Parts: sequence; structure tokens; C-alpha cells
Amino acid sequence: MKIMEICGAKELTGTIRISGAKNATVALIPAAILTDEEATICNIPEITDTEALCDILEALNVDVKRASESIIINPENMQNIEIEEKFSKKLRASYYFMGALLGKYKKASMYFPGGCSIGARPIDLHLKGFEALGAKVTNEGNKYIVEAEDLKGANIYLDFASVGATINIMLAAVRARGTTVIDNAAKEPEIVNVATFLNNMGAKITGAGTSTIKIVGVDHLGKCFHEVIPDRIEAGTYIIIGALCGKPLKVDNIIPEHVDALLSKLDEIGVDMEIGADYVVVSKPEKYKATSLKTAVYPGFATDLQQPFTVLLTQSNGKSKVTETIWENRFMHIPYLNSLGADISVKNQTATIMGPHKLVGTEVVATDLRAGAAMVAAALLAEGKTTITNVEHILRGYEHIVEKLTEVGAKIEIKEI
Ligand code: EPZ
Repeated sequence: MKIMEICGAKELTGTIRISGAKNATVALIPAAILTDEEATICNIPEITDTEALCDILEALNVDVKRASESIIINPENMQNIEIEEKFSKKLRASYYFMGALLGKYKKASMYFPGGCSIGARPIDLHLKGFEALGAKVTNEGNKYIVEAEDLKGANIYLDFASVGATINIMLAAVRARGTTVIDNAAKEPEIVNVATFLNNMGAKITGAGTSTIKIVGVDHLGKCFHEVIPDRIEAGTYIIIGALCGKPLKVDNIIPEHVDALLSKLDEIGVDMEIGADYVVVSKPEKYKATSLKTAVYPGFATDLQQPFTVLLTQSNGKSKVTETIWENRFMHIPYLNSLGADISVKNQTATIMGPHKLVGTEVVATDLRAGAAMVAAALLAEGKTTITNVEHILRGYEHIVEKLTEVGAKIEIKEI
């Protein structure tokens, strides 16, 4: 088991360079099997979610070559065999193989995906989308078989602008006959990145980034080269850490527009920032104002930044409120923030945070990936030593987190116990 130890209350100065986006990478790797030739993707983060997806590619006999930050995927000798539960349960995004295999072979067989326990996380919208394209879905216990004699373009309205369903339906539809239109599609930047990748291969997708995406099916997808966008959630996490401990901290290689909602909230609570073309420089202010926020689909305030942002609000003067609207179970970090000295109560989907309260190091748990990021942020601020367990969650999504934070002055290490 790995634990992380952080000695907090240090000023952090210097530059943190942001890696490729986890939530784009985890869709791009399964999407790559759609090519009939070879796909090269660069700026791939070295995180355990990337490894888990490469394991699935290898189990499907796909040729995978990795070189530092890039990956070359060649599915020429691929076999469409069932994806075992030991692979699918490692991460949520294993479900993108459903759409990609259905698109390429008209059949996918795999077990229910894993991932963070932040809510029920149904996949009904994905399956309804596949059915609209002509697939039959059979569910045997935990296993799903999705197959179609013929995949035909369709008009699909999503009841909720789901990121996963939008991408999965795009993957299934790129090689379908005719035109598919996804209405109420999700607009997250990762969707645009995946659509661009598929278009680089020869797909005909328009409208990605808006709520209507049109996909004209093609017979062949070819060789392509693609770059993963910077990780807006990793960027947001380090910007929040900069607002807690920066003296100043530069968060570099980002697309500031992708974290607009966060930057507006930071401005509102009194955090000093310099926003450049591809960076943000952020410093800890004298004091923070309280605020209220609600998570929302992009371009709203990202649910994935809600947990780290709550840490910041423990330092605000007065009462703040955070309402989580996307996931039912995303306040698991709160008891641990309280054990560090915060004063937060949760009722239904709203956390009420009274501040400011001094945080003091203790033992806490990373209950999920972004709860883990919140624990890191809190530990960096807290006086004394904080020990975080379940660190595996954090390593699923933050590349070289120890090295990046050490470089700017943090006292942080991971130990195997
Ligand atoms: C993606 O999850 C991200 N994961 C999540 O990030 C992120 O929190 C989420 O989008 C929202 O931004 C990846 O990209 C791998 P959704 P996804 O489908 O696609 C409901 C992180 O920390 N829903 O947009 O699974 C669902 O229950 C992770 O990096 C259905 O009801 O999210 C939820 O309430 C955690 N039926 C809402 O929609 C469905 O078929 C949003 O889910 C699908 C979703």
C-alpha cells in the first residue's frame, strides 16, 4: 500500500507544467482502435489510467509502442475478444471500448466499468444511444454484449449532456451508415479533442463543442497524428494550490479559457492572478471572501474541481456554500477536511463551509481521485504532517505529482508500507 506524507505550511514558488488531459487520453486510447492503419498520440500523461487502457489494448492484441510522452497504436492484428472484468473494473473509461468496438466490429463484449465511487454512475444513455444506432444490448449479470447487424445513423437526444455518452455514441457512429445527430451533447473540451482526433483519421464530425454534434459515417479511417489537450482539471487543482500557498506559483501550458469558471470564482473571493495566453500566475492573498457555487456541465464550474475548491473556502471569511449537481456522492472529502480543522456541514447536496479555520495535519484518506487532490491541497496548507492513504486514487489522474510539487518547494513523499 502506498501512503503520501506532506509537511505543510510551506510557500510554493516556481512553475508547474500541466500534462495532457486524463479525461481526453482515456477516450483517445480506445478511439485509436477505430483506425485501419496507425494512430500516434502525443502529450499522453504517465498516469495509471493510461497504463490500464494500454493493458486492455494488449489483451486485444493491439500493437502499442510507448515513448516518453507519446504512444503509437496499431490495431492491424487486433482481435475483438471479450474484455475481462479485471481490466474493465480498473477505470470508468474502459467503457469507451464499447463504442469503439461496436463502431469497428459491430460487436463489443465487456464487463461493467469501474472508477471512482462518486455516485451510481449508470450507463443507460450510452446504451440507449447504441440501440438508436441499431445495436441490441444484452446484459448478463455484470456483462454487456452490444451487437448490431448493421449500424445506421440516427437522431439521438441525450436526456442529460453526459460526457461519456456523447463520446461513446460518437465512437460508435463514425463508421455507421448515414448521418447521426446527437442533441443535448456534452460540450466539454475533451469531446472536441476526441472529435478532432477522429476527424484527423478521416471521420466527418461537425459541431463538437456545441450541443449538437453531427457525424456522417465513413467506411475507412486512416493514419493520424494527434496531440492531447492540457488537463484543465490538473491545471485547476494547481491553480487552487497556488491560491492557498503560492508565492507566486505559475501554472503553465494550459488553456485558460478551459478554467474560466474557476478563474472567475477565484477573482470573486479575492485571489490575485495574472492570466497569460497559456499560463496563470497565482499568489495567496491576505484574506479570502466567502462565496457560493454550484457545479454544472461545461462551461459551468467543473464538478472535478469542487472538492479541491472546498479546501480554499475553509480559509474564506464567513459562510460559503457549495452545491454539487452532477454526482450524488461527491462530499466524501468533507469529514477528512473537518478532521484537519475545517468547519463544514453537509445537507443534501450542499456543503456549508464556515471560515476561516486553521488546518493542522493528521491522517486522512483519498476516498476518490479528486477527494485525493483536495487532501493534497489541504495538507499543503496545514501546519505539520498529514498522511494520506489510498494514494492509488490520486496516481490515477495526476502525473508526477510528487516531483511537480517538490520542484516548487513542497515537502511531499510517497512511501510504500
Ligand atoms: C466524466 O465522467 C469524467 N470522467 C468525470 O471526471 C467528470 O466528473 C464527469 O464527466 C462530469 O464532468 C471521464 O471523462 C473519464 P457524465 P462521465 O456521463 O462521462 C449521469 C474525474 O474525476 N449519467 O457526464 O462518467 C451520471 O450519473 C472524473 O476525472 C446518467 O444518468 O460523466 C451523472 O450524474 C470523475 N446516465 C451525470 O450524468 C448515463 O448513461 C454526468 O455524467 C451517463 C451519465
